[in-house]
Amino acid sequence: MKNIDSTGHTRGESIYLDDIPLLRGTLFGAVYGSPVAHGFIRRLDVSGAEETPGVVRVFTFQDIKGENQIGGIIPDEPLFAEHHVHFCGMPVAFVVAVSEDAARHAVEKIKVEIEPWPVVTDPRVAQANGELIVPPRTFRLGDVDQAWSLCEHVIEGRADTNGQEHLYIETQGAYAMPLENDVIRVYSSTQAPTAVQRAISKVTALPMHALDIEVTRLGGGFGGKEDQANVWAALCALACLHLKKPVKYAMPRTDDMVMTGKRHPYSSDFRIGVDKDLKILAYEVTFYQNAGAAADLSPAVLERTLFHCTNSYFIPNVRATAYSCRTNLPPNTAFRGFGGPQGMYVIEAAIAKVAEGLGVDAAVIQKKNLHRTGDIFPYGQLAESEAHACWQKAEDLYDIQSMRREVEAFNGSNRLFKKGIAFMPVCFGISFTKTLMNQARALVHVYTDGSVSLTTGAVEMGQGVNTKMLQVAAAVFSIDPGSVRIQATSTFKIANTSPSAASATADLNGKAVQMACVEILRRLKEVAAAELGVAVEDVEWREGMVWVSGAATELDWKKLVLAAFVRRVSLSEHAHYATPGIHFDPSKEKGHPFAYHVYGTAIVTVTLDCLRGRYVIDAVKVVHDFGTSMNPLIDRGQMEGGIVQGLGWMTMEEVIYDEKGRLRSNTLSTYKVPDIYSVPEEISIDFLHTQRDNLAIFRSKAVGEPPLMYGIGVYFALRQAIRAFNPSTDLPFSTPLTPEKVLMGLYDKKLEHVPG
Ligand code: MTE
Ligand code: HPA
Ligand code: MOS
Repeated sequence: MKNIDSTGHTRGESIYLDDIPLLRGTLFGAVYGSPVAHGFIRRLDVSGAEETPGVVRVFTFQDIKGENQIGGIIPDEPLFAEHHVHFCGMPVAFVVAVSEDAARHAVEKIKVEIEPWPVVTDPRVAQANGELIVPPRTFRLGDVDQAWSLCEHVIEGRADTNGQEHLYIETQGAYAMPLENDVIRVYSSTQAPTAVQRAISKVTALPMHALDIEVTRLGGGFGGKEDQANVWAALCALACLHLKKPVKYAMPRTDDMVMTGKRHPYSSDFRIGVDKDLKILAYEVTFYQNAGAAADLSPAVLERTLFHCTNSYFIPNVRATAYSCRTNLPPNTAFRGFGGPQGMYVIEAAIAKVAEGLGVDAAVIQKKNLHRTGDIFPYGQLAESEAHACWQKAEDLYDIQSMRREVEAFNGSNRLFKKGIAFMPVCFGISFTKTLMNQARALVHVYTDGSVSLTTGAVEMGQGVNTKMLQVAAAVFSIDPGSVRIQATSTFKIANTSPSAASATADLNGKAVQMACVEILRRLKEVAAAELGVAVEDVEWREGMVWVSGAATELDWKKLVLAAFVRRVSLSEHAHYATPGIHFDPSKEKGHPFAYHVYGTAIVTVTLDCLRGRYVIDAVKVVHDFGTSMNPLIDRGQMEGGIVQGLGWMTMEEVIYDEKGRLRSNTLSTYKVPDIYSVPEEISIDFLHTQRDNLAIFRSKAVGEPPLMYGIGVYFALRQAIRAFNPSTDLPFSTPLTPEKVLMGLYDKKLEHVPG
């Protein structure tokens, strides 16, 4: 089944925030963000803005009716700066005017005098200053200190990954409108309608039942709208409450890039020990997470880094410590993989360094240490592993021997071009790491004409979740998918939702849909039994018909539905699903936090131009564990998108803040994302079909985030190519590996000035 949105998207008919018809009298907002990364506000003068033609009002912290606080995990994030600013772009004032132009023009008239304070952008400096968002966490397995003496080789190093701009096509924004009796409806481009509802409730002091947050779809979220849509929605709602007028704010791209947080940069130290057979005996790692100026989701991201610090490998002795460091950058936030990629990069760097030191192929070490079913993760859960199955199938299917021969032959016969090849195994845990978030609800109505309406807590952001929800209902009812319609996500229809995130949206909401449909079907079978005068045990529902004792009857879907209505049997159901069997005890750092893991292996090949430092990615060939995919077309799209987003992070996407904490890469001319010319020439995806029972909806495993991490393989393939040219290069483990850095590595030069 194709994505139900493909026709609308292709024709430009799909509705995003900016396509919602405006009510008469709608006002427009613009944010004045701090020009300074850290300091004390001596004087704020908004009179110039207030006097600008078209301006209705300028809001500051003094206009807040509830609390000036939008922090989700930790209350450390004011909506408006009061007396201090902590990052460039921190909202100081919100101008509301009769037009977008007037509002933006007025923002430029605001004057502020700020006493500058020292700016910290480096997480290691923040950690040394004791600036931590939460106390450090440590995951332990075995006894690392004892294990070092058993190792044949022990190698240490440092690895750094940079941030990443989400660059959703639709920027952040919201449109708030007053209904009667202080009820506000907010259209928000958010992955988390309930988080928006809570934030607005806190800021406006309105109860949650007065706040209808509605989302039809997003033009991309990628984690950037899990927590950070709250700000703009709260600003619009606050203005709406004061002015009793509809207020809209859709961010200009540069404001979005400057004011919102990104993927967390990490700086990490590792120590790894192997025995003479290249078995990894011990691994110690310290992560310094650059959290930015407020907690946002950083503690949860930090946790997922620890959960993924050993990737697909079984390591008997592990000690992993993570610091969430407060700096003067915009609060960094969720981004596809949610800290997992940052953790995996470091173990892959450690393995690469061992391989380079010993002169062996990294793939030998990787393969030897893949975990098997029954192996324990450092956090106590036992693996149900497909790691070997994926790896072995990749080796066989893609004929690794001839791939290797090809690379060797090429490198032997070319002096100025070199190829590199790398494996990238992935193991990703599915579930929110906070157990309580693993719950969802669905509301199903069957109308008397037989059409079905479906509302869930899921937000469609391009990942195809609505299509999957529709497939679940159509499958349970065994009716044509065309008679099921997905309704916009709304806090008035589905309450207390978790964000659409953690790749778990289809599982959580899909299970709730399944439960609701199964319950309606159960009642319909009773109706059929009564209509036909047979025992309910003899009634069967399949192919859109009632069957009794193996024979089809007259009762089809429409007749059955109508019969239920006539008999006054409910044709609606609201179901609640909570993932069973998961738990985690943070005081011990042990438990069973994930419903299951997703596995896969990618083989990446690249060709490097050793004169220019430029490169092409020849191929990314993957064997991926989809379980039993319920929508191979959508899942393939998630794979391709994830891989390209991951390799963008590893190679060309360079977030640069200067020493004053100002974002220099604040436009699409200074921040480069993969385009059609830089994507791999070949992406091959093989589906490892597994029939194993699991907690995935219809055994179709979650696919949203895991493929991003295959992109990490591109870094290591490039590194191999550089070493084929210059075997003694001391290229640091530092990403993105831009062509400039590649060139330095090829000729062992240091960049004189690395900004940021
Ligand atoms: N795919 C598209 N097209 N757009 C997105 O914003 N977000 C990713 C992934 N795939 C995203 C996407 C992220 S960060 C997550 S967590 C999952 O989709 C969320 O959706 P799911 O839980 O339905 O997989
Ligand atoms: N993944 C994604 N988003 C989240 C998580 C998680 O584990 N926890 C809280 N938000
Ligand atoms: Mo995705 S980073 O969990 O929104």
